[in-house]
Amino acid sequence: MEENRIIPTHVSIIMDGNGRWAKQRGLERVSGHKEGRESVRACVTCAAKTGIKYLSLFAFSEENWNRPVKEVSALMDLLVDSIAAELGRFVENNIRVLVLGNRKRLNPIVQNSIRSAEEKTASCTGMTLIIFLSYSGKWDIFQAAQRMAADMAADPKRKFSMEDFDSYLVTAGIPDPDLIIRTSGEQRISNYLLWQAAYSEFYITDIMWPDFREKELTDAIEEFSRRDRRYGKVK
Ligand code: IPE
Ligand code: IPE
Ligand code: MG
Repeated sequence: MEENRIIPTHVSIIMDGNGRWAKQRGLERVSGHKEGRESVRACVTCAAKTGIKYLSLFAFSEENWNRPVKEVSALMDLLVDSIAAELGRFVENNIRVLVLGNRKRLNPIVQNSIRSAEEKTASCTGMTLIIFLSYSGKWDIFQAAQRMAADMAADPKRKFSMEDFDSYLVTAGIPDPDLIIRTSGEQRISNYLLWQAAYSEFYITDIMWPDFREKELTDAIEEFSRRDRRYGKVK
């Protein structure tokens, strides 16, 4: 690893390919999700060790509610189990957990589990681990617009800037992702961080999420280090 590499502040991962990973092995889709959980563990450890300040994971989209009920409940159970299993380690490693998305759609067991993870890690000052759950970029922009419109109506004299709009998104206070990784070779955003990804670097790999571990994350960060971010300017 190069010594002078640039470490991204916020790395975000669209964890994709669990189902195909399982299918390739003649297994049920849920086996892919279970193995994917090991990748989450490996990437959280690697990101914290690397000095990444924010690691965010797209765990479940608003569109994923349209999957078969059996798969949705397996995913929710897996999330609750993982939080219970990892919470001690998060506290030990000073990792703050945030879960962002449309919480109203989550069942009470999931809501309690994420509330407890957030509360127990609230004073952690190391890496922030963000789990996007029941999240979609259009939903986020829409709910932000609605809340800002209400504040505008309540205080017609107040001027609102584009930066003010940021503070209505669920990611308020979190820097935009520097690097967005998508596994399984799909080259699309799938309604993820539409506003926040304005200047993110994209890294797409054919590797399926259950096979994406420390080496793969380190490779992505190395590649990010070689990118030239110009933000529309001339260098
Ligand atoms: C990612 O893997 C997990 C979620 C989206 C919840 P998929 O379940 O999308 O796996 P593929 O894309 O069908 O292989
Ligand atoms: C994107 O994966 C959502 C998550 C990783 C949570 P999908 O598998 O749902 O995306 P599409 O359907 O291929 O666009
Ligand atoms: Mg998929």
